[in-house]
Amino acid sequence: MRAAGKALAGLGAGLVGLGVRDLIQREHAVQRNYPVVGHLRYLLEGIRPEIQQYFIERNWDGRPYDRDVRSVIYQRAKGGLGEDPFGTELDVHEIGYEYLVHSMAPVAVPDQPFTALVGGPDCTKPYPMALLNVSAMSFGALSANAVRALNGGAALGGFAHDTGEGGISDHHRAGGGDLVWEIGSGYFGARTADGHFDPAQFTDKAADDQVKCILVKLSQGAKPGVGGLLPGAKVTAEIAQARGVPVGETCVSPAAHSAFTTPVELIEFIARLRELAGGKPVGFKLCVGSRVELLATVKAMVKLGTAPDFIVVDGSEGGTGAAPLEFENSVGLPLTFGLMDVHNALVGAGLRPQVKVGASGKVSTGTDIVKRLIQGADYTNAARAMMMALGCIQAQRCHTNKCPTGITTQSAWRQRALDVDLKTVRVRNFQQTTVAEAMRIMAAMGVADPTRLNPTMLRQNISAARSASYAELHQWLEPGELLADPPHPWATAWAAASPDRFH
Ligand SMILES: Cc1cc2nc3c(=O)[nH]c(=O)nc-3n(C[C@H](O)[C@H](O)[C@H](O)COP(=O)(O)O)c2cc1C
Repeated sequence: MRAAGKALAGLGAGLVGLGVRDLIQREHAVQRNYPVVGHLRYLLEGIRPEIQQYFIERNWDGRPYDRDVRSVIYQRAKGGLGEDPFGTELDVHEIGYEYLVHSMAPVAVPDQPFTALVGGPDCTKPYPMALLNVSAMSFGALSANAVRALNGGAALGGFAHDTGEGGISDHHRAGGGDLVWEIGSGYFGARTADGHFDPAQFTDKAADDQVKCILVKLSQGAKPGVGGLLPGAKVTAEIAQARGVPVGETCVSPAAHSAFTTPVELIEFIARLRELAGGKPVGFKLCVGSRVELLATVKAMVKLGTAPDFIVVDGSEGGTGAAPLEFENSVGLPLTFGLMDVHNALVGAGLRPQVKVGASGKVSTGTDIVKRLIQGADYTNAARAMMMALGCIQAQRCHTNKCPTGITTQSAWRQRALDVDLKTVRVRNFQQTTVAEAMRIMAAMGVADPTRLNPTMLRQNISAARSASYAELHQWLEPGELLADPPHPWATAWAAASPDRFH
């Protein structure tokens, strides 16, 4: 009896010791937030192969990011190369399976990663954009510590950090990393008391040296055409300051912008922002819907003789902190189709050399980057993969304020688990290794620079017996073709598009 008592006391003391250690260690946010019990997660991860079937049966792998991709992101964030043993587990004969075409004569991998110089003829401060950057996620959706670590990572690695539509907070400035300032329909950080665009505030903030580019958000893939609402209870003093709204009052992002109502007005607004920003690059972000509306916007560029410096295409597979299921699953073009449409529309209108194209939607590996470059992008952005580099375990509690890893919560207690210094390095590691892998893939394809990539280099299984390249599968317009002689079926959409109305 006494022995059992002693054993129990020993176990209790051991657990208390473990709990204290969990609370003070910095590496694992889950253990910091859930001392002792948090170990169960790592225990299950450790014996993964044995319990794999259990999880597969419960649709674990049906989540947005499959386990292998997540595991590679974690490894790379921690400084590893993310190498995988044994060989592919994918079904390489599956219809729809895609693969890159390597060369019999690989070239040397360049010493420096490629960048895309963003800035058209009307821009006086072009910005060299990295191949992979932090996609828009606002302070509010993310915790202060998450924003700080992302910005610190961007500074360490020399890539860009999109602020998201919630304005520029002190946390975005803390790391000194390059910022893409996103302006949504709520004009947060540059808005009048009644919610319209305020040029004076915009000019003041855009002058900040850390702000390298401005991005007007039209829509995002997870909820295209839907506005947003931040309940008053969540509008803390810090969030209110970043957004330029009163503390404690519900603030609304309408579905549509009030600064423009036609394609011509959108392009005029962009030109005005560039002027107010002292010549910094200005672009817009959208999830593509109607080809007619896209072409109407391109016609407005042709008519006005000015264009955005960049367009970011978000795929319907993109992530969000919270969105209606219907919009997540069933509205908007997947990235592959939206991206090819934007690229072709710009090529066809003769505007492609001056407008850079960014792409976002589940970009998380070197393959994803190269594939998107082939489909028409100049660079890519990632949101959820960056969250995983911060330690996201895909608990999918972003909308409840109860994120177990301290990433998507405003709870001071939960976010204290996210160690900013440690995660800053992880964000840098993940970006650096992933871009290095993309560079290595391009070298294996015999490509000395991304302009040499072409649609013959990406292939897809189209039946059990055949694969075909993107050059064969899709239509690729010639420079200026839409202006000279639009081919079928682009001709119908081109004829229907007017620069003076969206629809
Ligand atoms: C937590 C979270 C917050 C986001 N907030 C914004 C936002 O403020 N503005 C925006 O344009 N997109 C926002 N997005 C969308 C991302 O910027 C990106 O377009 C999309 O998630 C696709 O990238 P992913 O598949 O790499 O996550 C958010 C995404 C997440 C996951």
